[in-house]
Amino acid sequence: MSPRSVLFVCLGNICRSPVAEGVFKAALVQRFGASEAARWKVDSAGTSGYHTGEEPDPRSQASARLHGVDISMQRSRPFSAADFEDFDHILVMDSSNHVNVLALTEDPAARAKVALMLDASFPEQNKPVPDPYYGGEHGFEQVYQLLAQASEDWLDRWA
Ligand code: 4NP
Repeated sequence: MSPRSVLFVCLGNICRSPVAEGVFKAALVQRFGASEAARWKVDSAGTSGYHTGEEPDPRSQASARLHGVDISMQRSRPFSAADFEDFDHILVMDSSNHVNVLALTEDPAARAKVALMLDASFPEQNKPVPDPYYGGEHGFEQVYQLLAQASEDWLDRWA
């Protein structure tokens, strides 16, 4: 498959989308090997700037680490309209992220890049990746599992 660019988006860019970025990069390495994976551009962002510059939530880091994925080097940054030009695919975690991202462009080609993260696994169900921020550790493991499966399903779809 020719390399592509993918941006994962949630609200704070500290819980869900950093795990999505990490697990997707790990899936690329596993599928294609490190040198091919390095040709992809993979990043994450938040629709809010509340946590700009912060590390991923410690609970996200811990749940990713349990599965061998290190996301500690990531730092939160806000989504911007320039991202529509810089990425082929913009995968959002929930319908609120979806509304907030689409509000930044009228361009049909840009809008067509945006999809819900779980659309590949559960087509046309508008299923969200639940926000684990106010919940317990179990929520983070559930999020990890959903994101790992979704990464595989998007890669299958793009193959
Ligand atoms: P995320 O989770 O969107 O998955 O990064 C959240 C992080 C922070 C907040 C909400 C959700 N917050 O309200 O600060």
